Amino acid sequence: MNKREKQNDGVTIREHVFDGIQEYDQKLPNWWLFTFYIAIVYFVIAWFVYYQTPAPIPNDGERIEGQIAVIEAKKKAELESMLASLSNDSLREMSKDATHLASGKAIYEAKCAACHGLDLAANLNGIPLPGVPLNDTEWKYGGEPLQIMALITNGSPDLTKGMIPWKTQLSPSEIAQVVSYILSKQPS
Ligand code: HEC
Repeated sequence: MNKREKQNDGVTIREHVFDGIQEYDQKLPNWWLFTFYIAIVYFVIAWFVYYQTPAPIPNDGERIEGQIAVIEAKKKAELESMLASLSNDSLREMSKDATHLASGKAIYEAKCAACHGLDLAANLNGIPLPGVPLNDTEWKYGGEPLQIMALITNGSPDLTKGMIPWKTQLSPSEIAQVVSYILSKQPS
């Protein structure tokens, strides 16, 4: 018995019926078959080149990591040149930069607010906190930006007061950002 049934229009339909549905049995078009064969050949070549050649071509992940490393190196170089040129004026300039201020605020709230207060006034609902106010014009150790930076970096000369050298926990750029945040809160 012939399993295939030729229709008038040349379309072949399989005999098999399931749930009232029959299947076409067509030869795939040549353009489709060629694309398929080319894809198979391409796969074999690509597999060989990527995985079997001695100097592997970097995959996407490695390429992205390479790009990130380049960006990181650039950022580091920029940061270093920024730190090298750090001055009272450049710190004041930083205190107008929204990105530095946002980072400085985050560091301040995490590390400093416990003693100096969220509003820098060193008191919490009328209860004085251990730190000194940083939002006034009175500076025990000098109010120039570089003096503030040095005091935060190296701590108070009197360590028993609780103001530790923050250089052990914060990078110079983070300290510069926190200084710029404090500067932005100065009464003008
Ligand atoms: C454990 C409490 C405590 C923490 C936390 C703390 N400080 Fe202080 N800070 C103090 C005290 C106390 C003084 C006063 C030190 C003195 O009189 O010698 C001080 C002094 C200072 C001064 C000098 C003020 C002046 O009048 O010259 C600055 C600036 C300062 N702190 C910034 C910071 C920053 C920025 C942070 C967070 C990175 C921080 N402090 C975290 C307690 C603290």
